[in-house]
Amino acid sequence: MDIQFDRHRRLRSSANMRAMLRENHIRVEDFIYPIFIVEGENTKNEVSSMPGVFQFSLDLLNKEVEEVVSLGIKSVILFGVPNQEDKDEVGTGAFHDHGIVQRATRQVKEAFPDLLVIADTCLCEYTDHGHCGIVEYGKILNDPSLELLAKTAVSQAKAGADIIAPSNMMDGFVTAIRQGLDEAGFEHIPIMSYAVKYASAFYGPFRDAAQSTPQFGDRKTYQMDPANREEALREAQSDLDEGADFIIVKPALSYLDIMRDVKNQFNVPIVAYNVSGEYAMIKAAAANGWVDEKAIVMEMLVSMKRAGADIILTYFAKDAARWLKDEQ
Ligand code: PBG
Repeated sequence: MDIQFDRHRRLRSSANMRAMLRENHIRVEDFIYPIFIVEGENTKNEVSSMPGVFQFSLDLLNKEVEEVVSLGIKSVILFGVPNQEDKDEVGTGAFHDHGIVQRATRQVKEAFPDLLVIADTCLCEYTDHGHCGIVEYGKILNDPSLELLAKTAVSQAKAGADIIAPSNMMDGFVTAIRQGLDEAGFEHIPIMSYAVKYASAFYGPFRDAAQSTPQFGDRKTYQMDPANREEALREAQSDLDEGADFIIVKPALSYLDIMRDVKNQFNVPIVAYNVSGEYAMIKAAAANGWVDEKAIVMEMLVSMKRAGADIILTYFAKDAARWLKDEQ
């Protein structure tokens, strides 16, 4: 036989050979685990569209965090779910020193001082209309929302948050928050900006979990059009110019091309947000026995690393941490 070809299979011939040549890895240090916190006592509600994800009341929160820490996870992001009757037009609960997230942050940092606590800085969970900014005559106003976002970030930093993660997609939010933090003496607190956030149907289950569905319209005037690629670079550029320390790309799975573009263009840590709908799809298929959950989750997570993510925010963090431990 004199045909010439490359023998790629030589480098796949055994488990050890493959392990030696593996280019990307998932580590437990890569993960950020999201936790939802509700008012009340003795409450651990499973989110119906997100099996395995719960809303916790403060008295049960430390037990959950204990488990997260024992699995080796170094970071959590907290989402507050206030009572319906505590919501108002401007989302006061978001920036109240005794708001649900502020109390949760204080409590978690007191019990687990080394755990990195990230605060999601947005208004939609706290406004009665469910939008991420101030609403006037059915329009979401940009500039008047900025002051409230800055106040929210400062109250979260005061409560002990290690990182501020603004997710509201108002223009200028990084500038406003950076300025607010600096003036309040929090110049050392980094901003993890949801810079590249699409108006996505993949957030559906999260809105059940956080009770943050907009009461009218949608988020398309502030979140990005899923058809756009180049706009992502402009969004990331603005946020970096404004002082963002990390860039989040969200959702992750359908946007791996965007993650790679951002990684190639900017020298900054990239966070993949593996969102609620991505979690729900796999859970549903696995519950039906249609896919191998562990294999599919680990493949999905390593794809995010391959696409350029340095960090992965995922509801699968606990499961994946367990699987990584089992492998050792
Ligand atoms: C708040 C926020 C949302 C998510 C994270 N922060 C919802 C939204 O923008 O509607 C979605 C996360 C997920 O789906 O897992 N603005």
